[in-house]
Amino acid sequence: MSVGDIDTPSGEFDFAANLLPFDPLDPAFQADPYPFFRLVRETAPALCTQPGMWVVTGFRECSAVLRNPKFGHGDGRLVASQITHDAEGNVVRPFVFMDPPDHTRIRSLVTKAFSARMVERLRPTAERLVGELLAAAMSGPADEPVDLMAELAFALPSNLISELLGMPPQDKPLFEQWSSALGRGLDPDFMLSPEEMQRRDQARTEFDGYFAELARRRRAEPADDLVSALVAVEEDGRNLSMSELVSTCRLLLSAGYLSTAHLIGNGVNALLRHPEQFEWFRAHPDQVAGVVEELLRYDSPVQTAGMRTALQDTEIGDQPVSAGEGAMLLVGAANRDPAAFPDPDRLDVSRKPERNLGFGIGAHFCVGAPLARLTTQVALTALAGLRVELATDDAPRINNLVLRGFAELPVFLRAA
Ligand code: HEM
Repeated sequence: MSVGDIDTPSGEFDFAANLLPFDPLDPAFQADPYPFFRLVRETAPALCTQPGMWVVTGFRECSAVLRNPKFGHGDGRLVASQITHDAEGNVVRPFVFMDPPDHTRIRSLVTKAFSARMVERLRPTAERLVGELLAAAMSGPADEPVDLMAELAFALPSNLISELLGMPPQDKPLFEQWSSALGRGLDPDFMLSPEEMQRRDQARTEFDGYFAELARRRRAEPADDLVSALVAVEEDGRNLSMSELVSTCRLLLSAGYLSTAHLIGNGVNALLRHPEQFEWFRAHPDQVAGVVEELLRYDSPVQTAGMRTALQDTEIGDQPVSAGEGAMLLVGAANRDPAAFPDPDRLDVSRKPERNLGFGIGAHFCVGAPLARLTTQVALTALAGLRVELATDDAPRINNLVLRGFAELPVFLRAA
């Protein structure tokens, strides 16, 4: 069997003229994309799927592109749907889609404000929230399943990120409404329906208006939150402009909320399907950091670090790539590459944690990795103290190419 033999059942859909060598809407792909990725990687770890377009599934090849400054976002052609204009006509381009020197400047301001101290300060809040959310989830009859996504996986990061940003508690429902539209809008336009694009655009406008107003209030009266820190931060006498600040807040939400929710959901699902691995974790709670890294590798909630454009002539592995060509980086596939991870399709939470690509690598390495790790570690540690069982083998999945996860994950949850 070769890549050309992979069936694309939804024939009416053209995947941007066959950029992808598989159908991301095929239920078999959604249930388990890894055999499809293996087939593509075995054909070529960097596969030219149409003239000037590469799909990269090898670990070494993905890492090399992500670390290579000759690849970037250039004029933004491949991420055009993520670049907008504000009411004054300024270009609003979240810094994840920028190249140096703008990317370097904004990222350095953001990492100053979004400090390790600020993340660590959220730990007691995370522990309290997990306790409250699990107690509420277990308050019903023990023989009725609860939806772990709604009760914990979505609720926890949404509360933490809105708290981090400094949103007043009464505004939190707005956060959830925007973030599901923005999360769906992470996919390229060719994966979205007109209604989904319209909801994404409306969420962007409302979110940006809300955060511009919040930033003005925090400038007048600073509080102990990330928006106040982003307003205040400066380097070489330069602050973030209002459109940089607002697009950064939007990026923190859209990059951080659903990805963390799906790491928790995918992680719990993987542990429950491998009870001996869950037992090992229960017996080694101090190894939670390594457990979370293996779950991130095994079933990455962010399956692609997106697109890059060759800014000048370069190469991927030993294949020449000309300036202007594009590459889609499937980090979820790279994390199952046997050249980087022995027996990659086996979940092994005691695996010596080698660096995987779940948080990317290089200049755009995930700014929120410490928060995502903290949130997931706290959630899994609490769950390890309970009896948890899957209530179905067929939990519904989200329909998304960038993100992989569950819409619902029904489980039975009882005190140990
Ligand atoms: C399990 C959860 C998460 C995963 C799997 C994840 C994954 C990623 C990946 C793969 C990238 C690289 C994108 C690229 O190379 O273009 C990235 C970048 C980024 N992530 Fe995360 N992320 C997670 C959580 C978070 C959180 C909680 C936040 C913040 C609240 C966050 C904020 C960001 C930002 C701002 C960037 C852009 C960094 C840059 O361009 O310099 N992420 N993330």
